[in-house]
Amino acid sequence: MPRKLYMETFGCQMNVLDSELVLSQLRAHGYAQTDDRDSADVVIYNTCSVREHAEQKVWSRLGELRASKKQNPNLIIGVIGCMAEREGRSIFSKYPHVDILCGPGELDKLPAMVHNAVVTREPSSSIANPKSQIANQRQVALMGATTRRSSTLSAAEDTLELLDLSRSVSPTDDISQAYVRITRGCNKFCTYCVVPYTRGPEVHRPPQNIIDEVKMLTEHGAREVTLLGQTVNHYAYQHPDGHTTTFADLLYKVHEAIPNLPRLRFVTSFPRDFTNEALQAMRDCERICRYLHVPAQSASDRILKLMNRGYTSQQYRDFIDRARSLMPDISIASDFIVGFPTETENDHQSTLDLIRYCGFKNSFIFKYSPRPGTVAIDRFIDDVDEEIKRRRNNEMLAVQQEVSMQHNSRLIGQTAEVMVEGESKLVSRQKRAATSNIELGWEKSSQSTALAEALTTQLVGRTRGDQVVCFPGEASLKGQLLQVKITSAQNLTLFGELSRELTSIA
Ligand code: 5AD
Ligand code: SF4
Repeated sequence: MPRKLYMETFGCQMNVLDSELVLSQLRAHGYAQTDDRDSADVVIYNTCSVREHAEQKVWSRLGELRASKKQNPNLIIGVIGCMAEREGRSIFSKYPHVDILCGPGELDKLPAMVHNAVVTREPSSSIANPKSQIANQRQVALMGATTRRSSTLSAAEDTLELLDLSRSVSPTDDISQAYVRITRGCNKFCTYCVVPYTRGPEVHRPPQNIIDEVKMLTEHGAREVTLLGQTVNHYAYQHPDGHTTTFADLLYKVHEAIPNLPRLRFVTSFPRDFTNEALQAMRDCERICRYLHVPAQSASDRILKLMNRGYTSQQYRDFIDRARSLMPDISIASDFIVGFPTETENDHQSTLDLIRYCGFKNSFIFKYSPRPGTVAIDRFIDDVDEEIKRRRNNEMLAVQQEVSMQHNSRLIGQTAEVMVEGESKLVSRQKRAATSNIELGWEKSSQSTALAEALTTQLVGRTRGDQVVCFPGEASLKGQLLQVKITSAQNLTLFGELSRELTSIA
């Protein structure tokens, strides 16, 4: 019987990809994934440290597992990802029932760590398990401040590259939308951010490895591939002969090498150093989606300086103008931190102006969360009251909603290409509630009506510009690219119906 593995993932797309890679490795080592934590032999949390709230969720999950471990001492509990790296061994003093710690820079070691933890716990190999012995059996792999991978390390020498290279797809995997990493780590050191400390310095993957991975995924059914990096536009791979593949070169290469991939995207972009060549690649390659996620964080030059972002508000606007002048139909999303230390009402107003000026498709707005280990927590007092943060957060959301609504209303009456992601959340919830109410002894006729209703459901998908679209259709359309006529709009969602003339593309 394969051992059962339960894994929960918190945080960004990078973590989602890490979990997928780790799962594929553990599957190869004989573990089967389960959705039921209570029946699992191994429980792993892939964690995020970007904001305190994300960490609190994991602390509470670990608290819940205290009782499970008491009941089943052979249960293996692992904390992987950014929290493991940031907190280190102190996790063991708070939660002694944790067995495995593995940072995001060491995930290639995880299968061996899980295996070691399992075998050392098995009754045949353990003698009464005194406390000290449990501590010895713990498996720890962290980059740590002193052993951090050197910034000159190339991906070819990086054992972590093996994790991406080992990627395999099983027939049951849904890979219609897939992520492919192009860069690991980050060199920006924005003063509020833990990522450069938890994920280490930037390492760029060799272009051929990226192309091979995109090709393999497309051959297995991927229809949309998103290239991932903390700052994708900084991609620059130095070949052994000295020449460099830039981000623009990479976009052209991937686009050309995989002509049967209908959609190619990338996230996240940094507002500085986005070359005209990269924008031209987006304009020239018809299967590259004209969508940018380019976090501004603030529009106050003073705050941007305190954040160490390296650009001014005007430079950010100039970039948006440059992108729009090349691609008037481009869709742009941003991130903002509200209530950064010393943020004044004026600073806040300039950010509202920026949202209006740039006409973002949407913005992800976060209240500043001081993170241990960052420059900002040491240098600046978190002096904006929670109440003020909340009010400014709501004002930003309201302005963004207005902007999104204007943006979305313009799409009514148009036909958009939509990649179907599945049933809308609302329908899935309703269905779950309904199945728990199903009574035995239904008449045959009512069963067939229910079946017909189940075939047509509310589907959800995304346009090339990353806009969410809901429309009625059959659940079997999941993973397809369809033409949908937009009939109405809310600020976060468009509504439509399948276009009669041309339903399926590519
Ligand atoms: N507090 C609040 N938001 C943060 N982000 C990163 N660090 C913090 C922090 N300490 C936000 C930024 C980033 C997004 C991924 O998370 O907006 O773009
Ligand atoms: Fe964090 Fe700044 Fe790097 Fe983004 S660019 S991951 S915010 S340090």
